[in-house]
Amino acid sequence: MFILAIETSCDETAAAVVKDGSEILSNIISSQVEFHKKYGGIVPEIASRKHIEVINPIIQEALDTAKVSFKDLDAVAVTHGPGLIGSLIVGLSAAKSIAYALNIPLIGVNHLEAHIYANFLAPGTQHPFPFICLVVSGGHTMLVLVEGHGKYKVIGRTRDDASGEAFDKVARFLGIGYPGGPIIDKMAKEGNPKAVNFTRPMINDGFDFSFSGIKTAVVTHAKRQTIPPTQPQPINDLVASFQQAVVDVLVTKTIRAAKKYKCKNIALAGGVSANSQLRKDMEERGRGEGIGLMIPPLVLCTDNAAMVGARAYYLLKEGKTSDFELPAVASLRL
Ligand code: KG4
Ligand code: ZN
Repeated sequence: MFILAIETSCDETAAAVVKDGSEILSNIISSQVEFHKKYGGIVPEIASRKHIEVINPIIQEALDTAKVSFKDLDAVAVTHGPGLIGSLIVGLSAAKSIAYALNIPLIGVNHLEAHIYANFLAPGTQHPFPFICLVVSGGHTMLVLVEGHGKYKVIGRTRDDASGEAFDKVARFLGIGYPGGPIIDKMAKEGNPKAVNFTRPMINDGFDFSFSGIKTAVVTHAKRQTIPPTQPQPINDLVASFQQAVVDVLVTKTIRAAKKYKCKNIALAGGVSANSQLRKDMEERGRGEGIGLMIPPLVLCTDNAAMVGARAYYLLKEGKTSDFELPAVASLRL
């Protein structure tokens, strides 16, 4: 079963061909980071315009790399939310046109579900339900109890900033670049995570998160110290301390959730799961508690279309296809 998957919810134009829900035949990602960098964040109008420019060549490249042609496809999957409305519409229009022209099923996929399903993208992957999934991206931070295919219970979510958003905002304030997550991850390797003891917000308090206070604490600390980005060690210490505080909160709550819901496994999903400290600490603390950890390979943590194809396979198996009225939904929930 060959599914062509398309993802344009944010600033990556991506297309993939996935065989039987787990075998990635191609996974093409065109990033727009260069175009948004100078604004310190994503400009929605630029994002949709850039998607339009590259969507067709990216789809063609996905087919060519997979060595399949349009007539080999069994279905077309596409992210229909959550995300930037103009960006989503570009992917949706392309997917609908292809599905209509080929007379094959169209499958609308929730972007957050797709991130969770990135964990199943390896041939022979087991699906160890129930498990706790920590979904951490630029727009979302939530703890999800995954009880089966498509069966989710959101047990915690952020009350303000998403964790990726906090990384991006701290980086923007410090003037160290965009997107902040990977830059802070790299700089933190040269810093002392114990240099500044930031409060771990809500660490012992339920399963919700709050990251806006810690972001403000970093900004206040930097202003007080007047750290210019030209002083590598203090700034590396500062970002390492910030990152460690965020990671401590994410890891502590995820492990607590796994224990409370009697899950033997934890999964990570979304762009922030590329964070090396998060991966390391979650693995170590999970192992200490006898809890297994699933983490997608780095390229499947951030936005990509293969994860959309993975989710779509199970929807198709259940006959859950979409009609051509499928809307783009900016705030689609899990
Ligand atoms: O899942 P994603 O690619 O897009 C959304 O759906 O939002 O996540 C993007 C977010 C950005 O905030 C980015 O800074 C963050 O993921 N990110 C990271 C790392 N790589 C990407 N955050 C921390 N450490 C990283 N290595
Ligand atoms: Zn995403």
